Amino acid sequence: MEQTYLMIKPDGVSRKLTGELINRFEKKGFTLRAAKMITISEELAKEHYGEHADKPFFPGLINFITSGPVFAMVLEGNNVIKEARKMMGATNPEEASPGTIRGDFATEMSENIIHGSDSKESAKREINLFFPEL
Ligand code: PPS
Repeated sequence: MEQTYLMIKPDGVSRKLTGELINRFEKKGFTLRAAKMITISEELAKEHYGEHADKPFFPGLINFITSGPVFAMVLEGNNVIKEARKMMGATNPEEASPGTIRGDFATEMSENIIHGSDSKESAKREINLFFPEL
Protein backbone atom coordinates (compact mmCIF):
# COMPACT_ATOMS: atom_id res chain seq x y z
CA MET A 1 0.00 0.00 0.00
CA GLU A 2 1.36 3.44 -0.93
CA GLN A 3 2.54 5.79 1.82
CA THR A 4 3.23 9.52 1.90
CA TYR A 5 4.77 12.00 4.31
CA LEU A 6 2.57 14.90 5.41
CA MET A 7 3.45 17.68 7.80
CA ILE A 8 1.09 20.27 9.28
CA LYS A 9 3.29 23.36 9.44
CA PRO A 10 3.62 25.67 12.49
CA ASP A 11 0.83 27.95 11.22
CA GLY A 12 -1.60 25.03 10.90
CA VAL A 13 -0.70 23.70 14.35
CA SER A 14 -0.98 27.10 16.06
CA ARG A 15 -4.32 27.73 14.36
CA LYS A 16 -5.54 24.41 15.83
CA LEU A 17 -6.28 22.87 12.43
CA THR A 18 -4.59 19.51 13.21
CA GLY A 19 -7.81 17.65 14.10
CA GLU A 20 -9.73 19.09 11.13
CA LEU A 21 -7.00 18.07 8.69
CA ILE A 22 -6.58 14.52 10.07
CA ASN A 23 -10.37 14.22 9.89
CA ARG A 24 -10.38 15.16 6.19
CA PHE A 25 -7.74 12.55 5.32
CA GLU A 26 -9.41 9.82 7.39
CA LYS A 27 -12.86 10.58 5.97
CA LYS A 28 -11.40 10.26 2.48
CA GLY A 29 -10.41 6.70 3.44
CA PHE A 30 -6.70 7.03 4.17
CA THR A 31 -5.05 5.44 7.20
CA LEU A 32 -2.81 7.29 9.64
CA ARG A 33 0.17 4.93 10.07
CA ALA A 34 2.38 7.13 12.25
CA ALA A 35 2.22 10.62 13.73
CA LYS A 36 4.13 12.87 16.12
CA MET A 37 4.35 16.50 17.20
CA ILE A 38 7.92 17.77 16.88
CA THR A 39 9.86 21.02 16.70
CA ILE A 40 12.21 20.62 13.76
CA SER A 41 15.89 21.49 14.20
CA GLU A 42 17.55 23.83 11.72
CA GLU A 43 19.69 20.91 10.55
CA LEU A 44 16.67 18.66 9.81
CA ALA A 45 14.83 21.54 8.11
CA LYS A 46 17.80 22.21 5.80
CA GLU A 47 18.04 18.51 4.96
CA HIS A 48 14.31 18.21 4.27
CA TYR A 49 14.18 21.29 2.03
CA GLY A 50 17.72 20.78 0.62
CA GLU A 51 16.63 20.94 -3.04
CA HIS A 52 15.51 24.55 -2.49
CA ALA A 53 18.76 25.74 -0.84
CA ASP A 54 19.49 28.19 -3.67
CA LYS A 55 16.03 29.74 -3.79
CA PRO A 56 15.49 33.28 -2.44
CA PHE A 57 12.72 32.04 -0.11
CA PHE A 58 14.95 29.37 1.52
CA PRO A 59 16.07 31.33 4.65
CA GLY A 60 12.48 32.43 5.33
CA LEU A 61 11.21 28.89 4.81
CA ILE A 62 13.75 27.42 7.27
CA ASN A 63 12.94 30.15 9.78
CA PHE A 64 9.22 29.49 9.48
CA ILE A 65 9.30 25.69 9.61
CA THR A 66 11.48 25.74 12.76
CA SER A 67 9.42 28.48 14.46
CA GLY A 68 7.11 26.11 16.36
CA PRO A 69 5.90 22.52 16.49
CA VAL A 70 4.82 20.69 13.35
CA PHE A 71 2.57 17.64 13.23
CA ALA A 72 4.40 14.98 11.18
CA MET A 73 2.45 12.05 9.71
CA VAL A 74 2.73 8.98 7.53
CA LEU A 75 -0.53 8.46 5.64
CA GLU A 76 -1.33 5.28 3.76
CA GLY A 77 -3.79 4.37 1.01
CA ASN A 78 -4.45 3.94 -2.70
CA ASN A 79 -2.63 6.57 -4.72
CA VAL A 80 -2.19 8.56 -1.50
CA ILE A 81 0.76 10.69 -2.70
CA LYS A 82 -1.23 12.25 -5.56
CA GLU A 83 -4.61 12.25 -3.79
CA ALA A 84 -3.30 13.95 -0.63
CA ARG A 85 -1.70 16.67 -2.80
CA LYS A 86 -5.03 17.17 -4.56
CA MET A 87 -6.72 17.58 -1.18
CA MET A 88 -4.02 20.09 -0.12
CA GLY A 89 -4.53 22.27 -3.22
CA ALA A 90 -2.01 24.45 -5.06
CA THR A 91 1.19 25.40 -3.17
CA ASN A 92 0.24 29.05 -3.54
CA PRO A 93 -3.02 29.50 -1.60
CA GLU A 94 -4.03 32.30 -3.99
CA GLU A 95 -4.29 29.62 -6.67
CA ALA A 96 -5.82 26.89 -4.49
CA SER A 97 -9.46 25.99 -5.19
CA PRO A 98 -12.14 26.22 -2.51
CA GLY A 99 -12.64 22.81 -0.94
CA THR A 100 -8.90 22.16 -0.77
CA ILE A 101 -6.99 22.67 2.48
CA ARG A 102 -5.02 25.68 1.26
CA GLY A 103 -8.06 27.02 -0.62
CA ASP A 104 -10.12 26.90 2.57
CA PHE A 105 -7.59 27.88 5.24
CA ALA A 106 -4.71 29.92 3.78
CA THR A 107 -4.14 33.17 1.93
CA GLU A 108 -0.38 33.37 1.41
CA MET A 109 2.52 31.27 0.19
CA SER A 110 4.68 31.78 3.28
CA GLU A 111 1.98 30.26 5.53
CA ASN A 112 0.40 27.50 3.50
CA ILE A 113 -0.56 25.13 6.35
CA ILE A 114 0.70 21.76 5.14
CA HIS A 115 3.48 19.94 3.30
CA GLY A 116 3.03 16.71 1.34
CA SER A 117 5.54 14.56 -0.57
CA ASP A 118 5.38 15.17 -4.32
CA SER A 119 6.60 11.78 -5.63
CA LYS A 120 7.30 8.18 -4.58
CA GLU A 121 11.00 9.04 -4.24
CA SER A 122 10.42 12.06 -2.01
CA ALA A 123 7.85 10.14 0.07
CA LYS A 124 10.44 7.44 0.77
CA ARG A 125 13.16 9.97 1.55
CA GLU A 126 10.94 12.11 3.81
CA ILE A 127 9.46 9.15 5.72
CA ASN A 128 13.02 7.93 6.37
CA LEU A 129 14.07 11.38 7.50
CA PHE A 130 11.21 11.95 9.95
CA PHE A 131 10.34 8.37 10.93
CA PRO A 132 13.64 6.42 10.70
CA GLU A 133 12.15 3.80 13.04
CA LEU A 134 9.53 2.70 10.45
S1 PPS B 1 9.78 25.73 -6.66
O1 PPS B 1 10.63 26.94 -6.79
O2 PPS B 1 8.65 25.71 -7.59
O3 PPS B 1 10.57 24.49 -6.68
O4 PPS B 1 9.21 25.88 -5.20
P1 PPS B 1 7.80 25.43 -4.69
O5 PPS B 1 7.56 23.98 -5.06
O6 PPS B 1 6.77 26.41 -5.13
O7 PPS B 1 8.01 25.57 -3.15
C1 PPS B 1 8.93 24.77 -2.47
C2 PPS B 1 8.65 24.84 -1.00
O8 PPS B 1 8.92 26.14 -0.50
C3 PPS B 1 7.74 26.73 0.03
N1 PPS B 1 7.76 28.14 -0.35
C4 PPS B 1 7.80 29.15 0.50
N2 PPS B 1 7.81 29.16 1.83
C5 PPS B 1 7.86 30.39 2.42
N3 PPS B 1 7.86 31.54 1.76
C6 PPS B 1 7.82 31.58 0.42
N4 PPS B 1 7.83 32.73 -0.23
C7 PPS B 1 7.79 30.33 -0.27
N5 PPS B 1 7.78 29.97 -1.57
C8 PPS B 1 7.76 28.63 -1.59
C9 PPS B 1 6.59 25.97 -0.55
O9 PPS B 1 5.46 26.00 0.29
C10 PPS B 1 7.18 24.59 -0.68
O10 PPS B 1 7.17 23.95 0.58
P2 PPS B 1 6.24 22.71 0.88
O11 PPS B 1 6.53 22.37 2.30
O12 PPS B 1 6.61 21.63 -0.07
O13 PPS B 1 4.84 23.23 0.70
